[in-house]
Amino acid sequence: MSTAHSDRSGRGRSGMFRTKTVEQSIQDTEEPEHALRKDLSALDLTVFGVGVVIGTGIFVLTGKVARENAGPSVALAFVLAGIVCGLAALCYAEFASTVPVAGSAYTFSYASLGELPAWIIGWDLILELALGCAVVAVGWSGYIQSLMANAGWYLPGPLTGAHDGTFGFDLLACLLVLVLTAILVAGMKLSSRVTAVVVGIKVTVVLIVIIVGSFFITGSNYHPFIPPTQEAASSGGLAAPLIQTMFGFTPSNFGVMGIFSAAAVVFFAFIGFDIVATAAEETRNPQRDLPRGILGSLLICTVLYVAVSIVVTGMEKYDRLSVKAPLADAFKAAGHPFWAGLISFGAAVGLTSVCMILLLGQSRVFFAMSRDGLLPRFFSIVHPRYGTPYRSTILLGVIVAVVAGFTSIDVLAELVNIGTLFAFIVVAIGVVLLRRARPELPRAFRTPFVPYVPALSVLASLWLMLNLPTETWVRFAVWMVIGVVVYFVYGRRKSRVSQAADRRPTV
Ligand code: ALA
Repeated sequence: MSTAHSDRSGRGRSGMFRTKTVEQSIQDTEEPEHALRKDLSALDLTVFGVGVVIGTGIFVLTGKVARENAGPSVALAFVLAGIVCGLAALCYAEFASTVPVAGSAYTFSYASLGELPAWIIGWDLILELALGCAVVAVGWSGYIQSLMANAGWYLPGPLTGAHDGTFGFDLLACLLVLVLTAILVAGMKLSSRVTAVVVGIKVTVVLIVIIVGSFFITGSNYHPFIPPTQEAASSGGLAAPLIQTMFGFTPSNFGVMGIFSAAAVVFFAFIGFDIVATAAEETRNPQRDLPRGILGSLLICTVLYVAVSIVVTGMEKYDRLSVKAPLADAFKAAGHPFWAGLISFGAAVGLTSVCMILLLGQSRVFFAMSRDGLLPRFFSIVHPRYGTPYRSTILLGVIVAVVAGFTSIDVLAELVNIGTLFAFIVVAIGVVLLRRARPELPRAFRTPFVPYVPALSVLASLWLMLNLPTETWVRFAVWMVIGVVVYFVYGRRKSRVSQAADRRPTV
């Protein structure tokens, strides 16, 4: 068998670029104390994918982006973001079917790029998963509060969350995360059943928007389909997209450039399809089912998003769409409060599954990092009865609940996008490197046209990153620097791969 840090050709790789072999990754999953139960099918995975993908992006961001950046051409922004994700999905699918162990991009990177890049990606995934979960929990709380308001019920002001820089604690968001944590600790199968019901409600609501809404379309709302470019009101400095700062463009909205800015924001609506890969180790037949789960859920969501955005911008003129609940409010504006109420309810229910699966993904990445010794091994002991990584789930659940309590959505959503796009880039590069280092490994799914598709995936992800504000880049850089410091202080010494290497007799 290969040693911890030698590749197929026997060349040694040491220090922070040591890799963990694919065989070793798979073998680790078979240690009884650290083994997760394998009981998910391709259908479960697709349900997970759709469950986590359809959320705040389509239910909330569509209205904001149509109003501020793209008008009816928001549908094109969804197509663009969908293409960027499709390219990444082709790379994720190959990696996930080659290295079917918990941890997603983290595990893939450990097998191909080395320990430090893997750590960096694991640290980066916290932005996508934990922070994403907190953001969606806050969005959910907003929907519930608006439903409660319909019934005349109001929470005390300080418990409704932070508003416009004022201090506040979002009690509902915090409670949601704690309840979901308990469900996850109780076991995957229970979680996937709960998810299936929630996903059913959510997809039904989206289909209602598309089918019922199509009867209320007014053709003139589509003119102009791509509104003419408008200079943005002083959004210069750190708030402007990095690409505008770099090339000295005048910040603008609408027009063709507006579609790109819109794509960088609605990208949030696609986040989560990659999470299917984090459940690899709990899948019965990962080689076959993972690619199906990942690509299937992405395709379903893209079709639904494009249809929803076409219908909604046809129901109401884009500059009148609501920013908080655009889908429901478009029905209200058309004089159909019953459908509006039903859609609000479905959105509130639907966001719970997004939160839960983001939390599930985060606990599995954390579990994998802990099992490798890069984080304390204490967190990777699985529950003797439930077979779930309960320690990492509880730790993360509590942290995310606190963050959700004190978080405001806007700023953090962009941080989630940049973190996810960065992970896409690392995975695409990893596919090419692993093909070179281990061409003989069985790959149930092969990314087509390597290295062109991965290269295109890198460029497309980078393009969307460049359309995010400069201040988001600064926050991202600070977070990553903290991560590198933690690695050098802890993970580098405690890594199991490094400890195994130290024990190996020298020849
Ligand atoms: N894609 C998920 C959402 O839109 C994160 O809420």
